[in-house]
Amino acid sequence: MSDKKLSTDSYKGVRDFYPADMAVQKYIFETWTKTAESFGFERYDASILEPADLYKAKGAENEELVNEQTYTFTDRGGREVTLRPEMTPTVARMIAGKQRELALPLRWYSIPNLFRYERPQKGRLREHWQFNCDIFGGDEITADIELIALAYQTMINFGVNPQKFIIKINHRTFLRELLRKNGSNDIISATRVIDRMDKLPVEEFKELLKEVVPENNVEKFYTELNQADKSLIDSVDTNLSLMRVIDGLRELGIETAFSPSLARGFDYYTGTIFEVFEVDQGGNPTGRAMLGGGRYDNLTMMFSNEPVSGIGFGMGDVTLRDFLEENNLIPERVRSTTATVTVIPETIEQNLPAEKIASEIRQAGISVATDIGSQKTDKKKARASDRGTKFIIVIGETEITSGIITVKNLKTSEEKSGTPSELTDFIKQNTSVN
Ligand code: HAM
Repeated sequence: MSDKKLSTDSYKGVRDFYPADMAVQKYIFETWTKTAESFGFERYDASILEPADLYKAKGAENEELVNEQTYTFTDRGGREVTLRPEMTPTVARMIAGKQRELALPLRWYSIPNLFRYERPQKGRLREHWQFNCDIFGGDEITADIELIALAYQTMINFGVNPQKFIIKINHRTFLRELLRKNGSNDIISATRVIDRMDKLPVEEFKELLKEVVPENNVEKFYTELNQADKSLIDSVDTNLSLMRVIDGLRELGIETAFSPSLARGFDYYTGTIFEVFEVDQGGNPTGRAMLGGGRYDNLTMMFSNEPVSGIGFGMGDVTLRDFLEENNLIPERVRSTTATVTVIPETIEQNLPAEKIASEIRQAGISVATDIGSQKTDKKKARASDRGTKFIIVIGETEITSGIITVKNLKTSEEKSGTPSELTDFIKQNTSVN
């Protein structure tokens, strides 16, 4: 065997979750779960492995995601396999697979990990977890409204002040019409260019626009892309559902910002599209999107001749977590991963009796850890306190012979003695939830 030691670094662009990180991740997942279920969404899941064909279907051949960002390999049986880069094609496949049996409309959610071969940077990694919520068979625009209301409520349930984020909204038809008016029919390549508007210097972006619309329309088109004037919607199509979505959300007390330049990178969107950004003091979007989604009416057509409409969004854990950390929105209690009670045997001879006592207290639904290390009792007490345990119970010869143990509340120093079953009420009463 070679003497060269392996690196302890994780693979580029993915994260290890040590317990303190995992505690925050768990809090994020629990908040997502609670919010989705409060809207009546049901959870589904699938494997991270998908046949590569799922992402190569017609219409997707130009996609940056498919061509440059997927992890694709050939398995031992010669099949081309992809680590899922997003959940939408998977869920469309699952819906189409049981289309006859499923009673529409359906509200489904999932929290998959996704893999994209991106250049790792702030807010962008090669593996992220994404809260996916979709409504299938909800053809009415009320589905769009409900979905965006769910996205909004998710932010609120993390304790975010509505002043701190903005929901940008647009409609694919609007974008298509705007392009048509300016002499372009190629919405697919246009969205890819427009998607980069906020990421490029103005002049560089305008240069790119020359590939989208005739050169003499570039200035006009650029101005229109930057106008957030809702009368623009009317000028394109008075029946456009976008206005109804915006007004409907307002009735629910949710403000959105009409953004003609919002394009979204996927070719499958056909209607409402939206994204949520953090905003600075002046109300201007900063950084990367925390959430993005839209309506896609034809995705199940890859699998069957009967289309089922879908509308949904994905919210990433990376940008959300950065945002919550930067705004001090992760409650302290979340980070405490230690058991409520730590039982401390004085010597290793008392380890097994200590395990028995711990087991008795656990029967009452209290979490108990036993410190079976070989350190001195004082060291163990200090360690239990550092880890944030609320109560300690020291077990020595006396406790074992008498069967009477003493529990100490580390915060108040209050102590109580009795049999394990006599002490569980005391522990429960003194376990403050904060
Ligand atoms: P997306 O805009 O590609 O949409 O991703 C949604 C969110 O996932 C982004 O706003 C971002 O927070 C996060 N995200 C995406 N890529 C990365 C990455 N490399 N690192 C960290 N976070 C990332 C979709 O994926 C659509 N399939 C969403 C959807 C569901 N549309 C309809 N239903």
